[in-house]
Amino acid sequence: HCPAVHTAESLAREISQWRADGHTIGFVPTMGALHEGHIALVLKAMEVCDRVVVSIFVNPTQFAAHEDLGTYPRTLEADSALLAAAGCHLLYAPSVEEVYPDGFATTVSVEGPAIGLESDARPHFFAGVASVVARLFGQVRPDIAVFGEKDYQQLMVVRRMVSDLALPVTVLGVETKREADGLALSSRNVYLSPAERMRAGRLNVILRDLAHALEDGEPAARALEHARILAASVFDAVDYIEVRDADRLEIVGEGPLARPARVLAAVRVGKTRLIDNVPANPA
Ligand code: PAJ
Repeated sequence: HCPAVHTAESLAREISQWRADGHTIGFVPTMGALHEGHIALVLKAMEVCDRVVVSIFVNPTQFAAHEDLGTYPRTLEADSALLAAAGCHLLYAPSVEEVYPDGFATTVSVEGPAIGLESDARPHFFAGVASVVARLFGQVRPDIAVFGEKDYQQLMVVRRMVSDLALPVTVLGVETKREADGLALSSRNVYLSPAERMRAGRLNVILRDLAHALEDGEPAARALEHARILAASVFDAVDYIEVRDADRLEIVGEGPLARPARVLAAVRVGKTRLIDNVPANPA
């Protein structure tokens, strides 16, 4: 098992010792139900830092009332074993009270990259994410924090917050880990029935084909229309398929790509909401 602490106080004791010993600290925030995607972030953090902390905290403020907070998979024992195998130095698994003590009254609200996409379906999501990540950064005080490109908009929102609040941490992004058919690994994939799992794999294929069309110089409007029609025939709902500027997530024009872009999507398969994204670069 991975050594674990459950309070900010015991976390601070460990961290101060590492600091006193001159070690750099890497941090990977997660909500648990860990898979190879999370472990890739841990391995990246191990590569660039002397000590690595992983947090597991299912953050209530980023779930809407109708979402899956209550049923979100919780697998702490297995998570701890995976972290130990990866060589993680410390697991921080705080209670809700430890993260949100009585009287907690601050929200970090990011605009820019947080506008649209995920926010259209989940209006309070990024305020919840930014606020908890800011607090965890305060508790862990990492030199480097590692996030997955799987949640590309989240990565951009965290980068924006760190830059805007001048937080003393370097944010690294890691490429998305996928199943053989392209499906991005996700803690929520356990919700998929075998038939849904088959359909879920189509999302990445549709996004890759869209990216290739854009890279071949097809106008964005036409390539998007094609992808949206196809996705609507495969999935139970298409929340969005969009092309955005890769750095700032700004809306791009309807013509051929002029700058590096990102193709992002959210769809529903049965009751499960899937998100994915891929890069698309101008020829
Ligand atoms: P969670 O969904 O557990 O994801 C934790 C980290 O793992 C995120 O940075 C996410 O992008 C990354 N990740 C998930 N699946 C991945 C995959 N297939 N390949 C690579 N990386 C992957 O994202 C959250 O938790 C929360 O919003 C959090 C940042 C912890 C704040 O509560």
